[in-house]
Amino acid sequence: MSRNGYGLLARKRGIIFGALNDRSIAWAIAEAAHREGARFALSNAPVARRLGALSRLAEETGSPLIWADATKDDDVRGTFEESLRLLGPLDFIVHAIGMGVNVRKRRPYEKLNYEWYKKTLDISALSLHRIVRHALETGALADGASIVALSYIGAQRSFSKYQEMGDAKALLESIVRTWGARLGARGIRINAVSQSPTRTTAGTGIAGFDAMFEYGSRLSPLGNADAASCADYTVTLLSDLTRMVTMQTLYHDGGFSSMGITDEIVRMLDSTKS
Ligand SMILES: NC(=O)c1ccc[n+]([C@@H]2O[C@H](COP(=O)([O-])OP(=O)(O)OC[C@H]3O[C@@H](n4cnc5c(N)ncnc54)[C@H](O)[C@@H]3O)[C@@H](O)[C@H]2O)c1
Repeated sequence: MSRNGYGLLARKRGIIFGALNDRSIAWAIAEAAHREGARFALSNAPVARRLGALSRLAEETGSPLIWADATKDDDVRGTFEESLRLLGPLDFIVHAIGMGVNVRKRRPYEKLNYEWYKKTLDISALSLHRIVRHALETGALADGASIVALSYIGAQRSFSKYQEMGDAKALLESIVRTWGARLGARGIRINAVSQSPTRTTAGTGIAGFDAMFEYGSRLSPLGNADAASCADYTVTLLSDLTRMVTMQTLYHDGGFSSMGITDEIVRMLDSTKS
């Protein structure tokens, strides 16, 4: 791995949504995209402004900051108008936005608060639709652009503590496919990266996260993928090297998604028998 990168994103311009602090997956993606030669804007919800961390990343990577609530059409439209003015047409978009309101408030799936549930879907899934739509309508997206959204295998399988976020990720991945079919005519591609459990603000906000992390780590032949390796994978998807890949859910999970059980877990369960 070259510390100076491979110039994979030289001359590419983009926007990265969702870097909150230096544990965020989007933060690692921004650092990797910078290393690979990209110029980009950073965007997050206005509430994140108070935390102040993002200005450090903006300074380090020489990126403009655009504050926008991804659930608000005017904010998102304004973001693309501004990024078009500052950077010109964009070659990539990274969507790393998610929040499970019921999950965060410890409301069990059996007793969902539906207003919170709608908010969860709006923030975590519909925001991708909204972002692509306004990027297109403002003319901010270049032909041949690449869009990546972050997902989790809870979209396909039931993880008891992931709850409503499994529904949100299933919708997110469906939006990836439905947009993908429409974007191909301009050579624009869109994919979801399904990432291992990662110790971030959103991740650790889930009850039982430590157990999910440990389970992933024990089951995956390569162990859990961290944010830095996710960022390296993501920059390949933003680069021209992957120009024929679209509408996919791509597992970046150390092999977790192909596993059933390991000898270690068999031994562990055997040893609990009386
Ligand atoms: N951490 C994990 O275990 C894990 C695993 C797989 C996928 N993911 C996904 O990765 C993505 C990034 O999450 P993360 O784990 O880096 O956590 P994070 O908390 O660092 O990032 C989540 C981001 O969403 C932003 N956000 C929330 N509401 C918003 C709104 N209304 N408008 C704009 N932005 C808003 C937050 O400010 C934050 O920056 C999410 O889609 C998450 O579901 C995370």
